[in-house]
Amino acid sequence: MATTTSLESIKAQALIDKENKYGAHNYHPLPVVIERGEGVYVWDVDGKKYFDFLSAYSAVNQGHCHPRIINALKTQAEKLTLTSRAFHNNLLGEAEEFMATLFGFDKVLMMNSGVEAVETAMKLTRKWAYKVKGIEKDKARILFATNNFHGRTISVVSASNDPAARLGFGPFLPGIDSIPYNDLEALEIALKRDANIAGFIVEPIQGEAGVVVPDDGYLAGVAGLCRKYNVLFTADEIQTGIARTGRLLATCGDCSCKAGKCDMSHEVKPDILILGKALSGGVFPVSAVLANDEIMLTIHPGEHGSTFGGNPLACAVAIEALKVVIDENLAANAEKMGTIFREGLEKIAQRNRLVTMVRGKGLLNAIVIDSEENSFLAWNICMEFRDNGLLAKPTHGNKIRLAPPLVINEDQIHEALAIIEKSLNAFM
Ligand SMILES: Cc1ncc(COP(=O)(O)O)c(C=O)c1O
Repeated sequence: MATTTSLESIKAQALIDKENKYGAHNYHPLPVVIERGEGVYVWDVDGKKYFDFLSAYSAVNQGHCHPRIINALKTQAEKLTLTSRAFHNNLLGEAEEFMATLFGFDKVLMMNSGVEAVETAMKLTRKWAYKVKGIEKDKARILFATNNFHGRTISVVSASNDPAARLGFGPFLPGIDSIPYNDLEALEIALKRDANIAGFIVEPIQGEAGVVVPDDGYLAGVAGLCRKYNVLFTADEIQTGIARTGRLLATCGDCSCKAGKCDMSHEVKPDILILGKALSGGVFPVSAVLANDEIMLTIHPGEHGSTFGGNPLACAVAIEALKVVIDENLAANAEKMGTIFREGLEKIAQRNRLVTMVRGKGLLNAIVIDSEENSFLAWNICMEFRDNGLLAKPTHGNKIRLAPPLVINEDQIHEALAIIEKSLNAFM
């Protein structure tokens, strides 16, 4: 696969070469070297400006270098950054209260990366299974959906069916099963068959799989079945949460979150909610797991933790990142701009046969390109996007995710659509 074209400057190429020489080859980045970001834009080392239509995999929902979030970071960085959880700090309780109240849970457990939060949810599920549900020691099982993406640790890739995520990393964690996504019948069969199932962990929309949106009513159905069989429903909203899909949370469905306030009283409320990415505004790694006391209090001192989890810098950043989402009505903007964007993409699809499908919710969208999953066409289209001033990346071969920061406005959406169409036309 081509990694560079003649368009890279000598400066950019030297930086790419340095990464290749001294860094692990665990990613395959698009050949562009970014050195500055503001709002929906980033600039490369040669000063070329681009729309960012990846938003660091939806971590930068609030836009690059949001002044309020950066200010919170700077102010806190000059005061106190880390205490570890050996001592209390003056911001942890505040951040926990803010998140618990906003999302409607009794308690919050803060971690750093998304995958750590998924691991935390898995541990909580198992503890609850033994202490509350009464499953026999070491018999608890956790269900996942096929084609999921929940991160990269050994236990989490144990739940993956992506060969690239697993090859050469076995043996895997026992006690994990999977069922097809968006299939309530399969879920009920699995839950009925095995009383040792403790939890079902699922993405409200499968982002990495190519923005796969389940049928309306799927998440409510999952919540209902999990209640019926006394199984914990965990929503991994690391990518879909914090306004990305036009609601504060994707699980909110039709509740009043558009107003920026989530009381989570609707029927889709998960037992465990996992947040990451945009909880940080793209500024500082922070993730969180939310649950009620019956679940959260099954874990005691010494049983789970992290040196950096709940550090004051992360707390200050997370509070401000959430306040920005609410104050700037980013869920409502994501819904409105997302509708305009998909309408534009649909029109492009009518004119350009390379686009076989447009899908998404809010500003988490994808186009499916008319090619085999293993063809280079989607990659080459992303290279053309880049040359025309827009950054996006294929996911699972022939799908291109299009997910700009949620601060994007209508003029910018139309400008981006023009770039997308012009780039696609170059392949006709
Ligand atoms: C749904 C979901 N869960 C978990 C993760 C893992 O998050 P992190 O990369 O911060 O570990 C991701 C990352 O893309 C994700 O999309």
